[in-house]
Amino acid sequence: GKKLRVALLGCGVVGSQVIRLMREQADDLAARVGAPLELAGVAVRRPGRARDVEVDPELITTDAEALVTRDDVDIVVEVIGGIEPARSLILAAMNSGKSVVTANKALLAEDGATIHRAARDNSVDLYFEAAVAGAIPLIRPLRESLAGDHVHRVLGIVNGTTNYILDKMDSSGASFSDALEEAQALGYAEADPTADVEGFDAAAKAAILAGIAFHSRVTAADVHREGITEITATDVASAKAMGYVIKLLAICARSEDGRSFGVRVHPAMIPRTHPLAGVREAYNAVFVEAESAGQLMFYGAGAGGAPTASAVLGDIVAVGRNRLAGTRGPEESTYADLTVHPVGET
Ligand code: HSE
Repeated sequence: GKKLRVALLGCGVVGSQVIRLMREQADDLAARVGAPLELAGVAVRRPGRARDVEVDPELITTDAEALVTRDDVDIVVEVIGGIEPARSLILAAMNSGKSVVTANKALLAEDGATIHRAARDNSVDLYFEAAVAGAIPLIRPLRESLAGDHVHRVLGIVNGTTNYILDKMDSSGASFSDALEEAQALGYAEADPTADVEGFDAAAKAAILAGIAFHSRVTAADVHREGITEITATDVASAKAMGYVIKLLAICARSEDGRSFGVRVHPAMIPRTHPLAGVREAYNAVFVEAESAGQLMFYGAGAGGAPTASAVLGDIVAVGRNRLAGTRGPEESTYADLTVHPVGET
């Protein structure tokens, strides 16, 4: 019978976990999709590198371009990250009729328009649950479950590294640099922590969330951004003495008249009784406020190999089902009259 063949681009922390889960849960996944999922190939830059999972050497290739256009491939899973070569590979895959699952927040936040257009033009699926807040379902709820509602606001903690640092400063009185060092030692922060501590990572996620929530085109450059590097132990202690905790928030908010919105990332004082104040360590939490649904809260692991792979696997199952049924998932919807306003104008 029919098999669905999956090409994996990238075999790092997330990619290895995707392979492990596809292998360990092969029977369950086949039952849920309606056909077995088979790994068609794994494109990597350095074939000799040690990995967290064993991969049949026959499946490993350094020619990603050839892999994504191969006739026997149905689904391309991109977990390389960054703009290039990820963008060219995704476009090549779509142009040859493959459905795409990606975890690439940088690409979607910078040039999502190109990727969405290619998906529409080629009538293929584009799923990207893993691009925002790791394991936490946010994209599918916003695109599908809330498609009949009107979202007013999406607000929350979408960067685990900075939440870990701020939580450490709050609970132990540590300085920013000591807390950062600890986050790096635990593997949360990258060796170059700029993307996290300056708010770029959160801004990219906020751009993606705002785009879906408000049916608009938003890029990371539209997001007002302020990181946490200026926050001192004294700031944190003073906030604490007043009954507050400092958190790095991403805020996507519609204006009163509903026709524009603002997107921003900055540190904020949260009352210690607020549910967001209870988000400790590297966890993420996002509030969604919609007209009829009211307030919804999503909480969980925003990063890490297995949690992020869980979101990728969910997308692979959805895309696989769509392909077998000869149908497609949701498309990007954009309303031209809804504009992004600079902060202060909303
Ligand atoms: N550096 C990110 C974080 C990883 O700390 O949340 C997930 O995008």
